[in-house]
Amino acid sequence: MTPEVRRFPTLAAACRSLAEYLTAIATADAAANNVFSLVLTGGSTARSLYRELAAPAAIDGMPWPCTHLFWSDERLVPPTDPASNYGMAKALLLDHVPVPSENIHAVATETASAEVSAARYEEELRRYFGNAGGGPPDFPRFDCVLLGMGEDGHVASLFPGSPLLHEKRRWVAACGPAGSPFLPRITLTLPVLNHARRVVLLIGGERKAAVLDDILAASAETASPYPAARIRTPATRIWFVAP
Ligand code: 6PG
Repeated sequence: MTPEVRRFPTLAAACRSLAEYLTAIATADAAANNVFSLVLTGGSTARSLYRELAAPAAIDGMPWPCTHLFWSDERLVPPTDPASNYGMAKALLLDHVPVPSENIHAVATETASAEVSAARYEEELRRYFGNAGGGPPDFPRFDCVLLGMGEDGHVASLFPGSPLLHEKRRWVAACGPAGSPFLPRITLTLPVLNHARRVVLLIGGERKAAVLDDILAASAETASPYPAARIRTPATRIWFVAP
Protein backbone atom coordinates (compact mmCIF):
# COMPACT_ATOMS: atom_id res chain seq x y z
CA MET A 1 0.00 0.00 0.00
CA THR A 2 1.52 3.33 -1.04
CA PRO A 3 1.31 6.40 1.19
CA GLU A 4 -0.96 9.28 0.34
CA VAL A 5 1.33 11.92 -1.17
CA ARG A 6 0.33 15.58 -0.97
CA ARG A 7 2.52 17.87 -3.09
CA PHE A 8 2.84 21.63 -2.59
CA PRO A 9 4.51 24.44 -4.59
CA THR A 10 6.51 25.67 -1.59
CA LEU A 11 7.65 24.43 1.80
CA ALA A 12 5.62 27.21 3.42
CA ALA A 13 2.47 25.90 1.74
CA ALA A 14 3.25 22.33 2.82
CA CYS A 15 3.80 23.43 6.40
CA ARG A 16 0.62 25.49 6.45
CA SER A 17 -1.37 22.50 5.25
CA LEU A 18 0.36 20.14 7.67
CA ALA A 19 -0.32 22.51 10.57
CA GLU A 20 -4.00 22.54 9.59
CA TYR A 21 -4.00 18.75 9.35
CA LEU A 22 -2.41 18.35 12.79
CA THR A 23 -4.86 20.84 14.28
CA ALA A 24 -7.81 18.97 12.79
CA ILE A 25 -6.77 15.50 14.01
CA ALA A 26 -5.72 16.83 17.42
CA THR A 27 -9.10 18.53 17.82
CA ALA A 28 -10.93 15.33 16.87
CA ASP A 29 -8.82 13.15 19.17
CA ALA A 30 -9.09 15.60 22.06
CA ALA A 31 -12.88 15.68 21.67
CA ALA A 32 -13.08 11.87 21.57
CA ASN A 33 -10.41 10.87 24.13
CA ASN A 34 -9.36 14.08 25.86
CA VAL A 35 -5.78 13.48 24.79
CA PHE A 36 -3.59 13.78 21.69
CA SER A 37 -0.07 12.32 21.61
CA LEU A 38 2.22 13.81 18.99
CA VAL A 39 5.79 12.79 18.16
CA LEU A 40 7.92 15.70 16.94
CA THR A 41 10.87 15.42 14.59
CA GLY A 42 14.21 17.17 14.43
CA GLY A 43 15.80 18.54 11.28
CA SER A 44 15.67 21.92 9.62
CA THR A 45 12.59 21.29 7.44
CA ALA A 46 10.34 21.05 10.50
CA ARG A 47 11.35 24.54 11.61
CA SER A 48 8.76 26.21 9.38
CA LEU A 49 6.09 23.81 10.61
CA TYR A 50 6.83 24.70 14.24
CA ARG A 51 6.72 28.41 13.38
CA GLU A 52 3.39 27.81 11.66
CA LEU A 53 1.93 26.03 14.72
CA ALA A 54 3.21 28.81 16.99
CA ALA A 55 1.70 31.62 14.88
CA PRO A 56 -0.84 33.64 16.90
CA ALA A 57 -3.66 32.72 14.49
CA ALA A 58 -2.95 28.98 14.89
CA ILE A 59 -2.43 28.70 18.64
CA ASP A 60 -6.09 28.70 19.67
CA GLY A 61 -6.94 25.96 17.17
CA MET A 62 -4.74 23.31 18.80
CA PRO A 63 -5.94 21.61 21.99
CA TRP A 64 -2.57 22.29 23.65
CA PRO A 65 -3.68 21.53 27.25
CA CYS A 66 -4.40 17.90 26.34
CA THR A 67 -1.59 17.46 23.82
CA HIS A 68 1.40 15.35 24.87
CA LEU A 69 4.65 15.83 22.97
CA PHE A 70 7.38 13.26 22.34
CA TRP A 71 10.43 13.11 20.03
CA SER A 72 11.21 10.69 17.19
CA ASP A 73 14.91 11.06 17.94
CA GLU A 74 17.44 13.20 19.73
CA ARG A 75 21.12 14.01 19.52
CA LEU A 76 23.22 13.38 22.65
CA VAL A 77 23.78 17.04 23.48
CA PRO A 78 22.49 19.25 26.31
CA PRO A 79 19.05 20.79 25.70
CA THR A 80 20.66 24.22 25.25
CA ASP A 81 22.99 23.02 22.47
CA PRO A 82 22.04 24.31 18.97
CA ALA A 83 21.99 20.66 17.78
CA SER A 84 19.30 19.64 20.30
CA ASN A 85 16.01 18.64 18.67
CA TYR A 86 14.21 19.47 21.91
CA GLY A 87 15.96 22.85 22.04
CA MET A 88 14.87 23.65 18.50
CA ALA A 89 11.24 22.76 19.24
CA LYS A 90 11.37 24.69 22.52
CA ALA A 91 12.61 27.88 20.86
CA LEU A 92 10.22 27.77 17.91
CA LEU A 93 7.13 26.12 19.40
CA LEU A 94 7.01 25.13 23.07
CA ASP A 95 7.89 28.61 24.36
CA HIS A 96 4.96 30.08 22.44
CA VAL A 97 2.04 27.70 23.06
CA PRO A 98 0.09 26.76 26.21
CA VAL A 99 1.30 23.16 26.43
CA PRO A 100 1.63 22.13 30.10
CA SER A 101 5.23 21.37 31.03
CA GLU A 102 4.21 17.94 32.37
CA ASN A 103 2.99 17.08 28.85
CA ILE A 104 6.47 17.56 27.36
CA HIS A 105 8.25 14.21 27.18
CA ALA A 106 11.73 15.10 25.94
CA VAL A 107 14.64 12.66 25.76
CA ALA A 108 16.95 13.18 28.76
CA THR A 109 20.39 13.73 27.26
CA GLU A 110 22.51 14.80 30.19
CA THR A 111 23.39 11.20 30.93
CA ALA A 112 26.49 9.01 30.76
CA SER A 113 25.71 7.68 27.28
CA ALA A 114 23.16 7.41 24.48
CA GLU A 115 22.35 3.91 25.77
CA VAL A 116 21.40 5.31 29.18
CA SER A 117 19.29 8.04 27.54
CA ALA A 118 17.54 5.45 25.37
CA ALA A 119 16.74 3.23 28.36
CA ARG A 120 15.41 6.24 30.28
CA TYR A 121 13.25 7.32 27.37
CA GLU A 122 11.78 3.86 27.01
CA GLU A 123 10.94 3.99 30.74
CA GLU A 124 9.31 7.38 30.21
CA LEU A 125 7.20 5.98 27.37
CA ARG A 126 6.25 2.93 29.41
CA ARG A 127 5.16 5.22 32.26
CA TYR A 128 2.96 7.17 29.87
CA PHE A 129 1.50 4.27 27.89
CA GLY A 130 1.67 1.54 30.51
CA ASN A 131 2.78 -1.82 29.24
CA ALA A 132 -0.37 -2.44 27.26
CA GLY A 133 0.08 -0.14 24.30
CA GLY A 134 -1.34 -2.87 22.04
CA GLY A 135 0.43 -5.06 19.48
CA PRO A 136 3.36 -7.38 20.09
CA PRO A 137 5.40 -6.76 22.15
CA ASP A 138 3.08 -4.13 23.60
CA PHE A 139 4.31 -1.30 21.38
CA PRO A 140 2.98 2.15 22.23
CA ARG A 141 0.45 3.68 19.86
CA PHE A 142 1.02 7.39 19.30
CA ASP A 143 -1.86 9.35 17.82
CA CYS A 144 0.51 10.92 15.31
CA VAL A 145 4.19 10.57 14.47
CA LEU A 146 5.77 13.42 12.54
CA LEU A 147 8.98 12.59 10.67
CA GLY A 148 11.46 14.35 8.40
CA MET A 149 13.61 12.56 5.84
CA GLY A 150 17.34 13.07 5.25
CA GLU A 151 18.95 13.19 1.81
CA ASP A 152 20.15 9.64 2.44
CA GLY A 153 16.58 8.49 3.10
CA HIS A 154 16.96 8.24 6.87
CA VAL A 155 14.04 8.87 9.18
CA ALA A 156 14.29 9.60 12.92
CA SER A 157 17.87 8.38 13.60
CA LEU A 158 17.45 5.21 11.54
CA PHE A 159 20.17 5.40 8.89
CA PRO A 160 20.75 3.25 5.77
CA GLY A 161 22.52 0.00 6.66
CA SER A 162 21.95 0.40 10.41
CA PRO A 163 21.38 -2.83 12.36
CA LEU A 164 18.61 -0.91 14.14
CA LEU A 165 16.49 -1.35 11.03
CA HIS A 166 16.01 -4.96 12.16
CA GLU A 167 15.02 -4.15 15.73
CA LYS A 168 11.94 -6.12 16.73
CA ARG A 169 11.45 -5.59 20.47
CA ARG A 170 12.88 -2.34 21.85
CA TRP A 171 10.83 0.85 21.79
CA VAL A 172 13.85 3.15 21.90
CA ALA A 173 17.48 2.53 20.89
CA ALA A 174 20.81 4.29 20.93
CA CYS A 175 22.83 4.72 17.79
CA GLY A 176 26.53 5.49 17.54
CA PRO A 177 27.66 8.79 16.06
CA ALA A 178 25.77 9.28 12.78
CA GLY A 179 24.21 11.86 10.50
CA SER A 180 24.85 15.55 10.34
CA PRO A 181 25.71 16.78 12.90
CA PHE A 182 27.72 13.60 13.49
CA LEU A 183 26.65 12.76 17.04
CA PRO A 184 25.50 9.81 19.14
CA ARG A 185 21.72 9.65 18.94
CA ILE A 186 18.64 8.17 20.55
CA THR A 187 15.77 7.02 18.34
CA LEU A 188 12.34 5.45 18.41
CA THR A 189 12.50 2.09 16.66
CA LEU A 190 10.73 1.10 13.44
CA PRO A 191 8.09 -1.10 15.10
CA VAL A 192 7.09 1.87 17.27
CA LEU A 193 6.93 4.27 14.33
CA ASN A 194 4.92 1.74 12.36
CA HIS A 195 2.49 1.14 15.22
CA ALA A 196 1.30 4.77 15.32
CA ARG A 197 -2.27 5.65 14.37
CA ARG A 198 -0.90 8.09 11.82
CA VAL A 199 2.54 8.83 10.40
CA VAL A 200 3.15 12.07 8.56
CA LEU A 201 6.38 12.66 6.72
CA LEU A 202 7.43 16.22 5.85
CA ILE A 203 9.87 16.28 2.93
CA GLY A 204 11.32 19.48 1.55
CA GLY A 205 14.12 20.05 -0.96
CA GLU A 206 14.98 19.10 -4.54
CA ARG A 207 17.94 17.05 -3.32
CA LYS A 208 15.54 14.54 -1.78
CA ALA A 209 13.47 14.11 -4.95
CA ALA A 210 15.35 11.11 -6.38
CA VAL A 211 15.28 9.28 -3.05
CA LEU A 212 11.58 10.00 -2.75
CA ASP A 213 10.92 8.61 -6.25
CA ASP A 214 12.84 5.43 -5.39
CA ILE A 215 10.89 4.96 -2.18
CA LEU A 216 7.52 5.54 -3.81
CA ALA A 217 8.42 3.06 -6.56
CA ALA A 218 9.50 0.34 -4.10
CA SER A 219 6.93 -2.40 -3.97
CA ALA A 220 8.09 -3.73 -0.59
CA GLU A 221 10.25 -2.36 2.21
CA THR A 222 13.10 -4.63 1.18
CA ALA A 223 13.02 -3.28 -2.39
CA SER A 224 14.57 0.04 -1.35
CA PRO A 225 17.76 0.70 0.62
CA TYR A 226 16.23 3.77 2.19
CA PRO A 227 14.91 3.59 5.77
CA ALA A 228 11.98 5.86 4.84
CA ALA A 229 10.71 3.00 2.65
CA ARG A 230 10.25 1.00 5.84
CA ILE A 231 7.63 3.37 7.14
CA ARG A 232 4.79 1.08 6.27
CA THR A 233 2.23 1.52 8.98
CA PRO A 234 -1.04 -0.03 7.86
CA ALA A 235 -2.79 2.97 9.42
CA THR A 236 -2.83 6.50 7.98
CA ARG A 237 0.38 7.47 6.19
CA ILE A 238 0.55 10.89 4.53
CA TRP A 239 3.61 12.47 2.98
CA PHE A 240 3.69 16.25 2.67
CA VAL A 241 6.15 17.07 -0.11
CA ALA A 242 7.59 20.39 -1.27
CA PRO A 243 10.43 21.24 -3.68
C1 6PG B 1 17.43 14.45 13.19
C2 6PG B 1 16.17 13.98 12.58
C3 6PG B 1 16.18 13.55 11.18
C4 6PG B 1 15.62 14.67 10.30
C5 6PG B 1 15.98 14.47 8.86
C6 6PG B 1 15.55 15.62 7.99
O1 6PG B 1 17.42 14.74 14.35
O2 6PG B 1 18.44 14.55 12.49
O3 6PG B 1 15.06 13.87 13.30
O4 6PG B 1 15.53 12.35 10.93
O5 6PG B 1 14.24 14.78 10.44
O6 6PG B 1 17.38 14.34 8.76
O7 6PG B 1 16.33 16.71 8.31
P1 6PG B 1 16.30 18.02 7.45
O8 6PG B 1 14.93 18.55 7.54
O9 6PG B 1 17.30 18.93 8.13
O10 6PG B 1 16.69 17.65 6.06
